[in-house]
Amino acid sequence: MNRVLIRNGHIIDPANNVDLVGDVFITDGKIAKVGGNHTENADHVIDATYLTVTPGLIDMHVHLREPGFEHKETIATGTAAASGGGFTSVVCMANTSPVTDSPDRIKRIYEIANSKSVQLNSVTANVFPVGSITKNLAGEELTDIRSMLSAGAVGVSDDGVTVMNSALMCEALKLSAEFDFPVMVHCEEHNLNAGAVMNLGETSRKLNLVGSPNAAEDIIVARDIMLAELTGGHVHILHVSTAGAVELVRWGKQRGVNVTAEACPHHWILTDTEVEKQGTNAKMHPPLRTQRDVDAVLEGLCDGTIDAIATDHAPHTPSEKALGMKDAPNGIIGLETCIPLVITYLVETGHLTLNEAIAKLTNIPAKIVGLDRGTLSIGAVADITIIDTQKTAKVDIDKSYSKSRNTPFDGWQLKGWSVMTFQKGIQNKRTPTDGTNKG
Ligand code: DOR
Repeated sequence: MNRVLIRNGHIIDPANNVDLVGDVFITDGKIAKVGGNHTENADHVIDATYLTVTPGLIDMHVHLREPGFEHKETIATGTAAASGGGFTSVVCMANTSPVTDSPDRIKRIYEIANSKSVQLNSVTANVFPVGSITKNLAGEELTDIRSMLSAGAVGVSDDGVTVMNSALMCEALKLSAEFDFPVMVHCEEHNLNAGAVMNLGETSRKLNLVGSPNAAEDIIVARDIMLAELTGGHVHILHVSTAGAVELVRWGKQRGVNVTAEACPHHWILTDTEVEKQGTNAKMHPPLRTQRDVDAVLEGLCDGTIDAIATDHAPHTPSEKALGMKDAPNGIIGLETCIPLVITYLVETGHLTLNEAIAKLTNIPAKIVGLDRGTLSIGAVADITIIDTQKTAKVDIDKSYSKSRNTPFDGWQLKGWSVMTFQKGIQNKRTPTDGTNKG
């Protein structure tokens, strides 16, 4: 029997309303005891005095790029970045090549994630794939969603593009009502944001760049909430960025619609003025918006309208990002900066308690995608994150575990970092700033 004792930590387990100082005892990869002081013999003892012990964090929105775009990221490097950043589970999107749009391709992601080369590379994070809503992300024909669910898909998403055909969305949501899985939607009306490379506003006019209006996002958010109401399906709104989207999700919840939502750190910290300073490292879809939108997203996080925090970790290589605002791909990496951004900009500022923030990274995303993770319940898999909420350090992106370097947060001084994780009771000592990938 392998016994691990994490001693004297500040244990926060929102799923069980646990917030106390004490020990966590792990036997054979499962949570055996939480709280109190343990005298049992352990093979391995970790002193967590002054540290915060939480269920392993879950990022419900990442792009691991494998198969097909291994020059940007692989499942090995992406999960290394995840565990370095304090995440023990990631949900990966379907815009791989080939697109993850069949049961075999779902199985393939699990095979790679569980393969020796990935496991040897690291104590990896758990990988849970979503399948696409439409074949080849083309928006024309529904995938075989039921078979993908049987193969282990935790939801469906065409993330990166919007399913513009409302009838198809309706079909996907009908299936969701029947088989209970989230339809995770990227909300941008393609005709309205055609050619857009940033938010439409003062900065886009100043830089003479094509901008996307908030309405492009709001229209699809409204449509998909209405379709969820019509069908009884579960719609999950990915990366909320506008004040209107927050208002619409709030409205949907008030009406009793099965709608959940997530927001990414960049959308509640940065505005579109960042594009002027950071260029393509501030280019993503949906784009950075205005202060009014940032404030609304923060309010949505505070009042529970926005259920979860996710990163939309979207690796792209330096040469791709060097193509300039018009041609560079959308997205930024986020796995290693998420926790310190949450603690510095949500917890230290008083927007959320540490408990509320941890819930948005553990039991809430677990519930949305139906995972038996994100909890320290007795008998649960011992996925654990240990955070030093007082540690202050600078983001040094050259030390990232990711293959890519595209972040607007490089050099930022942040407080509150993951110091280690456990996956199935096995310790991983990576921290976000000690990677060795050269990009
Ligand atoms: O900025 C983005 N990048 N948004 C998305 O929805 C997709 C992602 C990517 O795959 O690069």
